[in-house]
Amino acid sequence: MSAFRIPVCMPPEAVRAMAEVRALNTAADGEPSAFVLTFGCQQNEADSEHLRGIAAEMGYRITDRPEEAELILVNTCAIREHAEQKALSIIGQYKHLKATRPSLIIGICGCMVAQQHRVEEFKHSYPYVDFTLDAASMHRLPEMVLERRRGGRRACTYAHMPMDHVPDVVEGMPIHRDTRWRAWLSIMYGCNNFCAYCIVPYVRGRERSRTPADIEAEARALIADGCRDLTLLGQNVNSWGRMPDGSFPEGDFASLIGRLAELDGDFRLRFMTSHPKDASDALIETMASHEKIARHFHLPLQSGSDAVLARMNRRYTAEHYLGIVDRLRAAMPDITLTTDIIVGFPGETEADFEATLEILRRVRFDMIYSFIYSPRKGTPAAEYADQIPDAVKHERFDRLIALQNEISYERNLLAEGKTLRVLCDGEKVQEGVILCSGRTDGGKLIYFAGNARPGDVVQVKVERAEPFVLRGVQI
Ligand code: SAH
Ligand code: SF4
Ligand code: F3S
Repeated sequence: MSAFRIPVCMPPEAVRAMAEVRALNTAADGEPSAFVLTFGCQQNEADSEHLRGIAAEMGYRITDRPEEAELILVNTCAIREHAEQKALSIIGQYKHLKATRPSLIIGICGCMVAQQHRVEEFKHSYPYVDFTLDAASMHRLPEMVLERRRGGRRACTYAHMPMDHVPDVVEGMPIHRDTRWRAWLSIMYGCNNFCAYCIVPYVRGRERSRTPADIEAEARALIADGCRDLTLLGQNVNSWGRMPDGSFPEGDFASLIGRLAELDGDFRLRFMTSHPKDASDALIETMASHEKIARHFHLPLQSGSDAVLARMNRRYTAEHYLGIVDRLRAAMPDITLTTDIIVGFPGETEADFEATLEILRRVRFDMIYSFIYSPRKGTPAAEYADQIPDAVKHERFDRLIALQNEISYERNLLAEGKTLRVLCDGEKVQEGVILCSGRTDGGKLIYFAGNARPGDVVQVKVERAEPFVLRGVQI
C-alpha cells in the first residue's frame, strides 16, 4: 500500500459523458439547474464544490432552490445517526418534487452510500432516487447522469471497497467555489486510524495523499485569484505523505505547510484535522516561525480518560495530549485551541467523564465540539456490551457544555481591548443595525461596526466579549 497515488485524470468515459450531458442541456428549453445539498464535515463541503463543478461543466446552472432544479445531489454524512436521519428526512421531501417533475434526477452521494445497508435502503424504499455515488467515485457523476437522461436504469449499487484498497487520487476534476477569498484545499483523502467509534475509515477508504506539486499549484492559483484564507483538509493531516514503512519521501506535513506559507500574498493557512498521536514538534516550530499560518490548532481529545482512550483505539494518553498543549502554548502564547469530545462512549464511568472535565479545566479550550456517542454499524465500539444509557449520556453532555460555556466566555474576555486581524465574511443585522461579521486569525467569530466588505482583511478593536462572539469596531 502506498501513501502517494500517482494521480489520475478524470476517465475519458466521464469526460465524454460530461460533454454529452452538456449538449443535451444546451439543446433543452431554458437553462436546467442543479442543486447540491451538503451534510457533514469540511471534506464533504470540499467534495460538494467538485460536484457543483462537474454539474456546471455538464451545462447545469447552480441554484440554491431545490424546487427549480433538474438535478439534485445530496452529499451525505454518516458520522452519527442524527446526520443520517436528517439527510433521510430531507431526501423524503424530494419525493413530491419528483412526482410533479418526473424529469428531475436525484443522486445521493457521499459517506452514507458507501454503506451497503444504506444503498439497499435507497434502492428499495426510495424509488425516486436515481443513483448513489460514494465519495471515492465522484468523478463518475457524468456517466450516472447521462444514463438517466437517456432513460437508462436506476443505479443504486453498492461498490464494495476491500479494506486494503487505496482508491485513486483524481486530479483535474472541475470545481465550483462560491467565494474567492476563502477556500478548502484537500491535501489527502481517507483515514487509516480506525478509532473504534468511527465510520470514516470504512466509508472513505484508505489514506492517500495528493502530491506536493499538485497541492502547491492549487494553492498558488487560489492565492493569485484573491484567496485570503486557505484551509488544508484531511482526516489526519499530520500523516500526509506517509509511506507504509513510516517514511516521508516527499517531506512531512510540517514541511508542506512551511513551503505553502512562503508563497507571496496576504493570506492565512489553516488545517484540519490533527491527530494527537501524530502532531509533531516540527509542526509547532513551523507554525511559530510563519505568521501566515493562523494561530489556531484544532486537536481532538475525545476523552480525558486513558482507559477510554485505549478502548477508543486513539493511541495516546491524556499526559501526551497535555504535553502537546504545553508546547503549543509555549511557542505561541496567543494560540486558539479547540477540540472534539465524545460523551458516553461505551464503558465510560463517572470517573472517566470527570477526567475529561478535568482536562477541560486545565487546558481551557477556546471552544469545543461535543458529541454524544452514536453507535455506527460495522465499527467495533457499536458491538461493545457496556453501552451507556441515553439519560446518562445526556446528563453528562449537559454538564460538559455548562463547564465549557464558562471557559469559552473567560477565554473570549482575554481578547477585550486587543486589536486583531479579521477577515470579513458577511454582515449581521442586529436590532436594526447592520454589522460586519468576520473571523479572527484564531478563528473566532466577531461582529464589528465598520465598512469592510466580504473578503476584506481589516484591523478590529475588540470592545466586548460574549461567550460565543466578540464585538468590536474597525480601525
Ligand atoms: N478525522 C477527524 C474527525 C472526524 S469526525 C479526527 O480524527 O479528529 C469529527 C468528530 O466526530 C470526531 O472527532 C469525533 O469527536 C466525532 N465522532 C466520530 N464518530 C462519532 C460517533 N460514532 N459518535 C459520536 N461522535 C463521533
Ligand atoms: Fe475517525 Fe479517528 Fe480517522 Fe478521525 S482519525 S476520521 S476520528 S478514525
Ligand atoms: Fe461525515 Fe463523511 Fe465527513 S462521515 S464527518 S462527511 S468524512
